[in-house]
Amino acid sequence: MALELYRDKNHSCLMFTDLIEEDGQAVQANQFLIVDDDTGAIIDPGGNLAFNELFMGMSKHFPPSKLAYVIASHADPDIIASLDRWMSTTQASLVISRVWERFAPHFTKVGKTENRVIGVPDSGGHLPLGRHELVLLPAHFMHSEGNFHFYDPVSRILFTGDLGVSMMSGAESRIPVTDLAAHIPRMEGFHRRYMVSNKILRLWVRMARQLDIAMLVPQHGAPILGKKAIAEFLDWIENLMCGIDLFDDRAYQYPSAHIDPVSRQLRPALRAVNA
Ligand SMILES: [Fe+2]
Ligand SMILES: [Fe+2]
Repeated sequence: MALELYRDKNHSCLMFTDLIEEDGQAVQANQFLIVDDDTGAIIDPGGNLAFNELFMGMSKHFPPSKLAYVIASHADPDIIASLDRWMSTTQASLVISRVWERFAPHFTKVGKTENRVIGVPDSGGHLPLGRHELVLLPAHFMHSEGNFHFYDPVSRILFTGDLGVSMMSGAESRIPVTDLAAHIPRMEGFHRRYMVSNKILRLWVRMARQLDIAMLVPQHGAPILGKKAIAEFLDWIENLMCGIDLFDDRAYQYPSAHIDPVSRQLRPALRAVNA
């Protein structure tokens, strides 16, 4: 069931939180559909696990031939692995960073992306959608090298891809977060490992503070709703050490553990006898 994040007469933003079966193997992921008049865009459609239901969900709102864009924040499998099916079943253009423009066609059969990729330069831009537009905001290294967030000036929703994500079920992801302190434990581990550096977070926060944001909506877990929680999120992320801030020479040692392919577990190195 799609969750309506925003709706007015001509414009709606829908979020799908539970298209992937929750058997614990694939991480929960959200997909988004923005409709303006009778034109639509899918943001971060996900992998093959989500395709059928997202396609059917979209078809309830407009004919698939009216899908203008498949927009990808970056090129990870949970973002765009279903690209071949979107390119086969619609006429949509793929909108993705120039950094990934020539890598994304590896997800499709030969020729499917020909003249259908809009490669976005690092500086981002304004993309027309129906009678309005989406703003493609630079978010490089958060976590991907070529990465964009998407600001919808009508709903004032900022779609932040892998920034602001939290680890939870699809059902929990439907409930917006307004108390950030209680939510931080569900975000912290991911951001410390998947975000690249505190420098990048600070630069991004400086840009984000200039926007009027009603809701910040990540690609995994629950939206962050309201001025207070969003301001607290920006304060938290601005001060977070992550990625290369936390890596030093200890992370780059010749490995001692062994992988047991049967149990799929690591076995610690055996102590040398008589050592
Ligand atoms: Fe990612
Ligand atoms: Fe992701």
